[in-house]
Amino acid sequence: MGTFGEQRWSTWPETSHAGRGPLPWPEWVVTDGDAIDYELGVVKTGKEAEIHLIRRYSPSSGREALMAAKRYKPTVPPAVRARVVNGSDRMTQSGRDKRAIAKMSKYGQFLVRSEWATSEFEFLRTFYAAGVPVPYPVQIQGAELLMEWVGDEHGVAAERLIHAQLDAGRASAAFEQVLHAMLAMARLGYAHGDLSPYNILVSGGRIVIIDFPQVVDIAKNPEGALILERDCRNVCSFFEQLGVPGVDVETLYGECLSVAWT
Ligand SMILES: Nc1ncnc2c1ncn2[C@@H]1O[C@H](COP(=O)(O)OP(=O)(O)O)[C@@H](O)[C@H]1O
Ligand SMILES: [Mg+2]
Repeated sequence: MGTFGEQRWSTWPETSHAGRGPLPWPEWVVTDGDAIDYELGVVKTGKEAEIHLIRRYSPSSGREALMAAKRYKPTVPPAVRARVVNGSDRMTQSGRDKRAIAKMSKYGQFLVRSEWATSEFEFLRTFYAAGVPVPYPVQIQGAELLMEWVGDEHGVAAERLIHAQLDAGRASAAFEQVLHAMLAMARLGYAHGDLSPYNILVSGGRIVIIDFPQVVDIAKNPEGALILERDCRNVCSFFEQLGVPGVDVETLYGECLSVAWT
């Protein structure tokens, strides 16, 4: 693979322990101090974030890994800003930071984006540690989240479920995996919040769930149950259309609710 575009020193050495992924670090994570991050291009530009492909390479050890960098955009949606302003955040904010956020100065916008990226990173950590199929979260630094690349070694991203051509057997297997993942998240008390065949990747025979900035606590959030139900509907209607047998939204919703509450 060629290297082109921007490059920088690996951000790994300067990232605190709390900003790194859960231990043990998978063997593919490049931790060498002399590593360089090469920008290989934009994978996707969304409303709120851009996904870039990064190659981290250490000249001394020869180790290298591809990663996805999710960079939150400078413009912060009003709902997110409100959440941070109203203090449902976990960052300790100084008076200066609070004022910057209230005014939405450049620095204030940066703080909100960082807060948002950190929240996604924390959920990835939690879910990864619980065995939910999510990309391994490598690091968080400011408004940039680095995670495992889900795709091939040439930098071709895994297909999204919506576009994956699955035969009956694979579709049933994918449905089973999504059910397990939703139940595992519910057992921790959470619903994805934006689950759909657009936020599920298919890599080999395996599904990987992505995009976690709007996770909700099913019991604590007043709309938690409603949001969980929407996730269940999105998933079930997709697999129903594929002709997967035994898809039942009420059963899935009921099971998720019951594990969330026990
Ligand atoms: N870890 C990853 N590996 C490969 N591709 C990814 C990864 N994360 C995201 N993508 C690709 O980028 C797209 C956008 O990412 P996502 O996190 O869903 O952001 P958003 O939908 O908010 O723009 C995904 O649909 C997927 O195609
Ligand atoms: Mg998405």
